[in-house]
Amino acid sequence: MDLLRSFVSETQRFVVAHRGSSGTAPENTMASFRNAIADGARMIELDVQLTASNDVIVFHDDVLGRTTNGQGQVRTQSLADLQKLDAGSWFSDQFINERIPTLAEALDFLRDKSFVNIEIKPPKESDFRLRLEKVMETVFAAKMETHTLFSSFHHRTLRELKERYPQLHTAAINVPGDKRMPSELSRETGCEGFVCSIHELTQKRVDDAHKHNLYIGVYTINRKDQFDKAYKMGVKALVTNFPANLTQWMSEQQA
Ligand code: G3P
Ligand code: MG
Repeated sequence: MDLLRSFVSETQRFVVAHRGSSGTAPENTMASFRNAIADGARMIELDVQLTASNDVIVFHDDVLGRTTNGQGQVRTQSLADLQKLDAGSWFSDQFINERIPTLAEALDFLRDKSFVNIEIKPPKESDFRLRLEKVMETVFAAKMETHTLFSSFHHRTLRELKERYPQLHTAAINVPGDKRMPSELSRETGCEGFVCSIHELTQKRVDDAHKHNLYIGVYTINRKDQFDKAYKMGVKALVTNFPANLTQWMSEQQA
């Protein structure tokens, strides 16, 4: 498989599965990653958090209640306890056996299947360096660094990542309400990509990004009118909960 850098520069548009194929399976589980691959996504976006013993797990929230049968803060629980939780039946009974994956397991599964976008969730505590270090340790151990895009709302994490590993690829996610242009965030963090929500997508941002040789990713594109807007504006990374639909819409455009 091509390295991420050449894939991104040579591909006009590609589909990114948001938390896996999270419209068809519970988000950030192996089931959602399997569906995303089957649905034609070229990249899988997943979120990472740390456990009490600093293991990196694939999980979106700081707390367990929304997407598991557990309660309380993720950061205070052991990996063993977290792995006992049911991370699927909140979505549908069919997924009762889904567990919270570790980042290492997810990367192992995705190797040779797709590119990966690891979104490093902003730490509540001041230990963002530890979080970054643990994520990087896992990615390097899996030898997936050339296939991974790192993104975050926490721009300091991205800046430090780039200072330490300038060869790696990063994207800054726009913090809602932040009016700065992609080029300003790139100057601050060294990122190659700028990610915003479909509601934050403006022609001004697109023009600024393209002028400065940056690409744009947009989340979450689930409807055809959202796809049409992003497609027309030249968004490169189309982030969706329904990769099968976007793959289909892309092929209709290109036919
Ligand atoms: O990377 C885009 C998107 O995943 C950011 O928001 O909350 O879905 O992680 P969230
Ligand atoms: Mg995310």
